[in-house]
Amino acid sequence: MAANWKMHKTKEKAQDTAHNLISLLNKKIPEDREVLIIPPFTALDSVWEVIKNEEQFVLGAQNFFPAHDGAYTGEISPAMLTDQNCIYALVGHSERRHILGEKNDFIAKKVSFGLENGLKIILCIGETLEERKAGKLQEILYQQLEIGLQDISSKGIASRLSIAYEPVWAIGTGEVAGPKEITEAHNLVRKFLQKLFANEGEYIRILYGGSVKPDNCSEIMGLDNVNGVLVGGASLNAETFSKIVLNS
Ligand code: PGA
Repeated sequence: MAANWKMHKTKEKAQDTAHNLISLLNKKIPEDREVLIIPPFTALDSVWEVIKNEEQFVLGAQNFFPAHDGAYTGEISPAMLTDQNCIYALVGHSERRHILGEKNDFIAKKVSFGLENGLKIILCIGETLEERKAGKLQEILYQQLEIGLQDISSKGIASRLSIAYEPVWAIGTGEVAGPKEITEAHNLVRKFLQKLFANEGEYIRILYGGSVKPDNCSEIMGLDNVNGVLVGGASLNAETFSKIVLNS
């Protein structure tokens, strides 16, 4: 159950939200669930201070650059993130694809470099409304997966890689994909993963993201091949996000 805080919250607000979340969840998180907090870089350390003794909480980053170090002004390396206690990192989020112009080839470099350097990767994929209307759902998802995962071998991959299916038209819009649309996409992703990674592909977690809220989360989590959710807007408030973690 992943909370992507995007470019929200200064250190104090981030700590407050994390504190509130822990007290609202009050050790009631179902056993098979992990709560992943993905704050902005500047709040990683403050959130870590709050969650470090909480068994089912983990920390993640929203982005990194695929190099050990060097002249990359404004960028951050996997080693800097693991040094901040990050276990996970997002790669290929639609906001980075569409606002920052990241392409599949660059995303592929990040996936392999991040995995090689100690991060668990959540590769985000998803189609735009135009692409869906043009009947290109499978083509777009498979292209993003095929290129994004081109350098990855299957050995032990299921515990290190997750996929987040996030239809671009459902992110931050209040427009949630329906059960049929989510199932169709998640089944396609599963099929691809099985083909690419054989048996390991069965166990790679596939998260849904896009306007997940307390009132639609349990239906979404009950669908075939939905193994988690990636939540933006509704994760900013501890009360709302705790309902998502507990009710679904
Ligand atoms: P949203 O964002 O829940 O605000 O739609 C999801 C995401 O971008 O990961």
